[in-house]
Amino acid sequence: MKYNFDEEINRFNTSSVKWDEVDTIFNGENLLPMWVADMDFKVPEPVIEAIKQRAEHGIFGYTARNDSYYEAIINWMQRRHNWKVEKDWICHAPGVVPALGMIVRTFTKPGDKIIIQSPVYYPFTNVVEKNERVIVQNPLKYEDGKYVMDFEDLESKIDHDVKMIIISSPHNPVGRVWTKEELTQLGDICLKHNILVVSDEIHFDLILKGHSHTPFASISEEFAQNSIICTAPSKTFNLAGLQTSNIIIPNKNIREKFTNTLESLFIGMTSTFGLVATESAYRYGDEWLDQLLVYLQKNLEFLTDYINQNIPELKVIPTEGTYLVWIDCRELGLEAKELEHLMQKEARVALDEGYIFGKSGEGFTRMNIACPRSILEEGLKRIEKAVKSVRGVASK
Ligand SMILES: Cc1ncc(COP(=O)(O)O)c(C=O)c1O
Repeated sequence: MKYNFDEEINRFNTSSVKWDEVDTIFNGENLLPMWVADMDFKVPEPVIEAIKQRAEHGIFGYTARNDSYYEAIINWMQRRHNWKVEKDWICHAPGVVPALGMIVRTFTKPGDKIIIQSPVYYPFTNVVEKNERVIVQNPLKYEDGKYVMDFEDLESKIDHDVKMIIISSPHNPVGRVWTKEELTQLGDICLKHNILVVSDEIHFDLILKGHSHTPFASISEEFAQNSIICTAPSKTFNLAGLQTSNIIIPNKNIREKFTNTLESLFIGMTSTFGLVATESAYRYGDEWLDQLLVYLQKNLEFLTDYINQNIPELKVIPTEGTYLVWIDCRELGLEAKELEHLMQKEARVALDEGYIFGKSGEGFTRMNIACPRSILEEGLKRIEKAVKSVRGVASK
């Protein structure tokens, strides 16, 4: 079937964080929400049907994952990622961020060091610091308009207290899809220094033209045994509200420790609708996803052309994966807070400002383009108008 991603769907009064909470969270009025990572698109039709059918049953008691659920996940990983996953490796968590919190608590102790690569998804900082572990920054290098990992800096920061690295693969917010070579270089360093690799691959299905994702654990048996791979159908199929993720752990010893933490918190059970949605999305969602990726690619091209032609002060960082676009606004010559003011108060567009992803994100902004093109255009028009109002002011 042909999906219509151009359809504007009113999301107000659905308890949507993105739409219903935006004005409160950003302290504004009639803000256009292009921030938090969910999409303004309906999920695949077979997922809606499966949920309706389950709802019709009318009883929603405690729910167990069954063979059919695991089979759908295993087949998805094989079909879409050429990654052979075994049923035993698949652990449940109510979300990737909660899983990260549990992973940090299980495999490190207070005072241990954990590496992250800023600018990066800001909850990485929270799960480390709120659990009283110490962040070690290994900032990405921004070279010739492209972000790359800085391996020299990484090696120089490693000491005996460093126990873990958390990577975003693909990378939120800079949109890189790490190559097998990059991941191999990283993995070799971590093996050498006995550092556990936690690879957050929640965006792994959202890969744009010309790029391909490599699951970290698929690279080699040694990497598989030294890693935890966080996956979920939530970004891919817009199911974040159903709070279901799959944490894939090939190493038996690591897996048992993680499962033990889940059990100690009594959160091993899956939500009824999360289970139904995950299985149906992974079984029947390919067609929808393929069309979504074409639409996102066109949105990216639309945004890039629009900015190049009308807002030349901004530079779009090439996006290889995710639906989050990282935009270099430094030519505007504004401080981080001034840029935020411009976007929120003048343009009235809610974006995730670069500085929240770490110091190296200052002067950048992140835009969620998983919306109908009409909304994207509206956001760009608002930003263009606001930029016009400050054009030339900063350089005077
Ligand atoms: C890299 C990354 N990890 C995790 C999440 C959220 O995961 P969850 O909703 O499963 O906690 C996001 C959402 O934007 C993300 O970008």
